[in-house]
Amino acid sequence: MNSIIWLVTLGVLYLSFIFTTPVKAPAPKKVEVEVVKTEAPAVVEAAPEAKTAEVVVEAGPVDLEKGKAIYLSTCIKCHNKDPNVKGPIGPELVDAPLELMHHKVITGRYPDVLPEGFVPKRKTKQMTKFPQLGKDVPSIHAYVQSLKKK
Ligand code: HEC
Repeated sequence: MNSIIWLVTLGVLYLSFIFTTPVKAPAPKKVEVEVVKTEAPAVVEAAPEAKTAEVVVEAGPVDLEKGKAIYLSTCIKCHNKDPNVKGPIGPELVDAPLELMHHKVITGRYPDVLPEGFVPKRKTKQMTKFPQLGKDVPSIHAYVQSLKKK
C-alpha cells in the first residue's frame, strides 16, 4: 500500500514539475551573415544626346538640285538611282526620316535610339560615313522624297 502512495506522490510531483517549469524558447540560432563586398557598379555617364533619337540636323537651305547632284554622285554607288528600290548594296531610302538620314550620313550608322515606327532596312554596318555632307542632308532628303512613289 505504501508503494502505491509513493508512486502517486512521485507522479504528482513529476507532473507539477512539468507544468510549472517554464518552457524556454530555443535560443535563436546565430545566423552568420557573410558580407560580400562588391564593387559598386560603375556609373556610366552617357552623353545625354546619345540616348535620344533626336539629332539636331544642321539647318542648311533645301536645294533640290544640290541634293540631286550629291545623291547621284555619292549615294548611288550603293543605293539605287531610284530611291524607292534597293540598290547594289544599300536599301531603298524613301522611308528614312530626315534625322535618321542625317545620322546615317554623318556617322555611317543607325542611331542607338531609332525614330518611332522606323525599322532599319538592313542590320549590316556597311555604309561609309560622309561627315562633310551633314549640312546637305536636308537637300538630299528632299530630293529622295521628291521621288517617293507611294
Ligand atoms: C558604301 C556604300 C554606301 C554609300 C556610298 C551610301 N550608303 Fe547609305 N546605306 C548603305 C548600306 C549598306 C545601308 C544599310 C545599312 C548598313 O549596312 O549600313 C545603308 C543605309 C542607308 C540609310 C538607312 C535606310 C533605311 O531605311 O534603313 C540611309 C538613310 C542612307 N543609307 C542614306 C545614304 C545617303 C543619303 C547616301 C549618300 C550621301 C548614302 N547612304 C551612301 C550603303 C551606302
